[in-house]
Amino acid sequence: MNKVTIDNVVLTLSHPLKNAKEWIGLHEVLRQLLACWLIVDKNDLPLTPRITGYPGVGKTTLAIAAAKKRNQDIYILQCTSDTRPEDLLVTPVLSEKGQIAYHASPLLTAVITGGVAILDEGNRMSEKSWASLAGLFDYRRTVESVIAGITVTAHAEFRAAVTMNEDDSTFEIPDYIMSRLQPGIEVGFPNREDEMQILSYNLPFCGEEVLMMCVDFLQRAHDLDLPYSIRDGINAIRYTLKQKKDRPDTDTEHLFENAIKQILGKEALDLDSLAAKQKATGKYYSDDTIPGMNLGDFFFPDDDQLNPDKPKEP
Ligand SMILES: Nc1ncnc2c1ncn2[C@@H]1O[C@H](COP(=O)(O)OP(=O)(O)OP(=O)(O)O)[C@@H](O)[C@H]1O
Ligand SMILES: [Mg+2]
Repeated sequence: MNKVTIDNVVLTLSHPLKNAKEWIGLHEVLRQLLACWLIVDKNDLPLTPRITGYPGVGKTTLAIAAAKKRNQDIYILQCTSDTRPEDLLVTPVLSEKGQIAYHASPLLTAVITGGVAILDEGNRMSEKSWASLAGLFDYRRTVESVIAGITVTAHAEFRAAVTMNEDDSTFEIPDYIMSRLQPGIEVGFPNREDEMQILSYNLPFCGEEVLMMCVDFLQRAHDLDLPYSIRDGINAIRYTLKQKKDRPDTDTEHLFENAIKQILGKEALDLDSLAAKQKATGKYYSDDTIPGMNLGDFFFPDDDQLNPDKPKEP
């Protein structure tokens, strides 16, 4: 294991990611991300962008592929609501000889060695944890570990990006942190040609017929602004092919439809009605969706005319 000594404290470094994937199609977002990490003058600093978009559209893959393009080591830190400030930097571990050993997080390892850090799903992390990184993402490029008692200034090659998912289990990131995570790069859905290429890159063993079926399905969903992604497509294809292997005589289209139903729910087989429902209620609707409670729902029955949060008719 690699170790470094900073201010007489020995730190064990994290391992970089192996097997980084390429980014296929959607060239503009890759170009934007690489531009953020460029330095145009000796007084210039890199930007730390936030990468947003529907679940499964490729946010994490984009950051990984961009780091790979720069030939830098990649360190991913998965953020959760339990991530504490020190988890972001240094974790003390009891070593065999009963002494305390300090382990540098993937983020701190990137800071020290000049790698690329990806803070994945950053808005699942609380304000308190974010606060400890404020100095790292501005002109100071410095971070302090209270536990190890060290202050580290980032290597000149250190770069970072934060991916963000918008769902109910995320936190609002405070403005002073948001202002350091700029610009926002939004990954959208790919067009037909790119989607075909992305799927066949990820599933090189899949024949044209099933790929086309999947692209047709996803493109129709994108046109209707339904949140079905490449990841859903990859899962549906995988399941279809596995079933086909087991039962080669079964109609492939039937197997694909079944896969969609089992992965995305039966409402995904009728995209038009699903889109109409979504439009009327203003939110994505699935049979598995648990109805949300708004303030009005605590005081009035769901369908009461006086309930200001009464669901709108489809
Ligand atoms: N442009 C692309 N090139 C190559 N692979 C892609 C591309 N877009 C999506 N993928 C593939 O789609 C899958 C989902 O991508 P990824 O995990 O990066 O999505 P995400 O937006 O980070 O999802 P989540 O919101 O759940 O974190 C991966 O298997 C990835 O390889
Ligand atoms: Mg991701």
